[in-house]
Amino acid sequence: MVAFQSMTKEVVMPEEFIAGNPKKGAELVADCAACHGQNGIGLSSDWPNLAGQNQKYLYEQLKYFQSGQRENVLMTTVIDYLKILSDEDIRDIAAFYADKSSNIGAAKNDEELLVLGSQLYKAGDFKRGIPSCSACHSIYGQGNDQAGFPAVNGQQKGYLVSTLKAYRSGQRNAGEYSKVMQAVSMNLTDRDIDALANYMHGLYE
Ligand code: HEC
Ligand code: HEC
Repeated sequence: MVAFQSMTKEVVMPEEFIAGNPKKGAELVADCAACHGQNGIGLSSDWPNLAGQNQKYLYEQLKYFQSGQRENVLMTTVIDYLKILSDEDIRDIAAFYADKSSNIGAAKNDEELLVLGSQLYKAGDFKRGIPSCSACHSIYGQGNDQAGFPAVNGQQKGYLVSTLKAYRSGQRNAGEYSKVMQAVSMNLTDRDIDALANYMHGLYE
């Protein structure tokens, strides 16, 4: 009984979800449209879509950029701006993009690439130490809003490739969750990454 009580004391309850205000967020994103578009659809294949991404994930990533834990040359242009924003402002920005409709991409019609991408995404490859992606990102790639696991469906292909390589090399290492993805991507080949990016880009329900 005593042991049980001391155990329950250590249980950390998940942070209460606080919904941001998308209308307020809309007034704070003028500097972002040049790359992420007016409605959160990246203007280049190399720049991520933010539209329809879950608020929790967007909020956390913006906090990582603000604190310098996640670094990217292009995002550097808005760091000074992010630094003057409050947590509430950042939550409102995250809510603004989460509210937008996500993109549906089209996968390249290369049968071999599609079969590899689909197999790895849904089932992983146990022998090569690759877990299934659908376990956390869901079968249609919507992610998990409550847990803050990001959506990957319709995401820009160039960005998917570069960010998976950045996890694999350990360069993307902001926060505990990035360690999960470092382990996930450790055994992926460049070909696996191309196949997965092609599959996720074209994924929708
Ligand atoms: C000059 C181009 C540029 C501008 C301006 C810009 N971004 Fe970005 N943003 C990027 C790129 C490129 C990445 C991908 C970074 C990486 O690969 O790590 C990114 C990543 C992000 C991410 C993480 C996305 C993910 O899926 O993990 C968020 C959130 C984000 N930007 C929000 C913003 C906000 C909010 C603004 C405006 C205050 C902004 N960005 C302005 C280029 C830009
Ligand atoms: C155990 C759960 C889990 C598994 C399995 C998993 N992921 Fe992830 N994934 C996450 C989490 C959590 C994050 C956010 C990491 C962070 O904060 O950097 C993430 C982030 C990502 C991102 C970055 C999204 C963005 O917008 O920047 C991509 C791409 C991705 N995962 C692809 C995959 C692929 C491909 C697989 C399968 C080979 C996979 N994941 C397996 C949990 C998982």
